[in-house]
Amino acid sequence: GKGNYRHFMEKELHEHPAVLGDTLRQYLDPKTLEVRLPRLPFDPGRVPRLTISACGSAFLAGAVGRYWIEELARLPVDADVASELRYRNPPLQEGGAAILVSQSGETADTMAALRLLREGGQKVLSVVNVPESSMARESDGAVLTVAGPEIGVASTKAFTAQLAVMACLAIGFGRARRELTTLDEGRLTQALLEVPSHAAEILEKDAQIRELAAEVAKARDVLFLGRGSLTPIAFEGALKLKEISYIHAEGYAAGEMKHGPIALIDSNVPVIALCPSGPLFEKTASNLQEAAARGGRIMAFTDADGVGPLSRFAERVIELPKASAFAAPILYAIPVQLLAYHVAVLKGTDVDQPRNLAKSVTVE
Ligand code: M6R
Repeated sequence: GKGNYRHFMEKELHEHPAVLGDTLRQYLDPKTLEVRLPRLPFDPGRVPRLTISACGSAFLAGAVGRYWIEELARLPVDADVASELRYRNPPLQEGGAAILVSQSGETADTMAALRLLREGGQKVLSVVNVPESSMARESDGAVLTVAGPEIGVASTKAFTAQLAVMACLAIGFGRARRELTTLDEGRLTQALLEVPSHAAEILEKDAQIRELAAEVAKARDVLFLGRGSLTPIAFEGALKLKEISYIHAEGYAAGEMKHGPIALIDSNVPVIALCPSGPLFEKTASNLQEAAARGGRIMAFTDADGVGPLSRFAERVIELPKASAFAAPILYAIPVQLLAYHVAVLKGTDVDQPRNLAKSVTVE
């Protein structure tokens, strides 16, 4: 049941700290700060190329994984939604491998991509939440997210658990390819182990996020901006908002603004910025400032170091815990989900069963 929560989605949002802890403890050793991956169907030290595919939010978790794996393991990754991949006839490299991501393990397009990839000689690893699912059975290997059942149609804890698994895989691949030292591994592992408590701190920002939701609920269109590994999280914010509040939203890489979408900016379009301090901060902040100069209402999520600079032009700045740049996508996923949740509640939509959508899309 929902316990004391109004919706399954709200309950599941509050399970983030526990689910992230359970998933990370499955693949990280908190004592030695080492990654412990289950047996993989391919040798990450030897594969020439990786394909990542999935649908919806699961794809966006894979898209963050692409940033991490390319950065930490220097392994080239091709990421595409399963509904495209399956008809794209991609040239698959001999000895290549693939990672498919799915909560249900039953999504028709992802299953079709799985079969195509296996027929093309790729070793397929699936990241799934349901151990007895079709995908887990038909893959060459499976890594489980430890999210427990997810009832709300909008993915919340399953998404962050997918991110946690992708992060562990990226570190493991980086070690296997000798791109990371044990010292790097320890530092990255430590950063991940701090995620559950940071997630709990973020859930305490609920009142601030609800105030932001009251503004967003009045809008017809909303933009979400991120950069680097936060870009798929901007897409996720837009997907969640569309899915449950029926407000039109777009996610963009902040650097793409000036190539078109900035023409949309006026004082009616809230711009939700995911802008943690770190190596990309200045770049994103200057894109936001350009939007603000055109009347855009910037609502930024950042950490203690970003609050000062962003407050100079942003209408609202919500401070999140300071985390490593590596862990940021996992943490920033939580406030965008919470935001969508509160907007949907304010709009009075059916949060757990949004119109036209099914939890698991088993038809093409
Ligand atoms: O079960 P799956 O993870 O394969 O589902 C994939 C998508 O249908 C799913 O993530 C969908 O985008 C969610 N409803 C998003 O909240």
